[in-house]
Amino acid sequence: MSKLVGKVAVITGGARGMGAAHVRRFVAEGAKVVFTDILEDDGNSLEKELGDHARFIKQDVTKADDWATVVSETESTFGPIDILVNNAGISMNKSLMEITEEEYRRILDINQVSVFLGMKSVVPSMQKTKGGSIINISSINGLVGGAIGYTDTKFAVRGMTKAAALQLAHMGIRVNSVHPGVIETPMIAQDDAKEAIQEFAKFIPNRRIAKPEEVTNIVLYLASDDSSYSTGSEFVVDGGLTAQ
Ligand SMILES: NC(=O)c1ccc[n+]([C@@H]2O[C@H](COP(=O)([O-])OP(=O)(O)OC[C@H]3O[C@@H](n4cnc5c(N)ncnc54)[C@H](O)[C@@H]3O)[C@@H](O)[C@H]2O)c1
Repeated sequence: MSKLVGKVAVITGGARGMGAAHVRRFVAEGAKVVFTDILEDDGNSLEKELGDHARFIKQDVTKADDWATVVSETESTFGPIDILVNNAGISMNKSLMEITEEEYRRILDINQVSVFLGMKSVVPSMQKTKGGSIINISSINGLVGGAIGYTDTKFAVRGMTKAAALQLAHMGIRVNSVHPGVIETPMIAQDDAKEAIQEFAKFIPNRRIAKPEEVTNIVLYLASDDSSYSTGSEFVVDGGLTAQ
């Protein structure tokens, strides 16, 4: 459990769900972790649980000013940033004819513009240590179609990952995307769809939905030096769903 000793990580949407699983594992692997979210109570209690190597900062990932604060506070607390996990996101299950322009722009901001802001904000910090790893959380809906808005943003995250990887490679900064299938988190529970999800699980080759920690294993691999030659790539964790 020492894959990230000496590394400083920023993880967005880290107060619950998959983000919280990544935060816990990164700390266990020796990283110093700043995690951010809009959910202050959940963030504060996770910070208390994890002790000195984890720090929670309240951040709205759609705001450039919040990103500037996160970078400067991370540097002053732990030092320059080695790893960024752009994990924060929302789902939206409305049809093309139901979704309003305002809702559409909101999901673009949270799922897509945030990733642009995050990558742009951490690069100067990563340059101080001559490298880094950025992990952008997309979805299988960045590979195959799903809900309008959500699918659009997750395809964009996949594309932005490749564009940034090409531009940042000469700086020693790697950028990869992760594409989870159906994962047991509050995002899924909140849609009031538990029964439908269990029904859907029958169509997954592995016949089950995944635990957040199963995605963390891939995120950890990409954050660590084990993945030193991987950049601009897609890493799918979906129990075989998109292989059909
Ligand atoms: N759960 C799944 O099945 C699944 C599948 C594929 C991809 N994903 C993606 O994985 C990521 C994590 O999702 P999850 O399932 O853990 O969901 P979750 O809802 O449990 O966690 C998402 C976190 O993002 C935070 N967040 C939302 N808007 C924010 C904002 N403006 N600023 C800062 N934080 C904000 C939320 O407060 C929450 O803590 C998301 O990007 C999601 O799209 C999830």
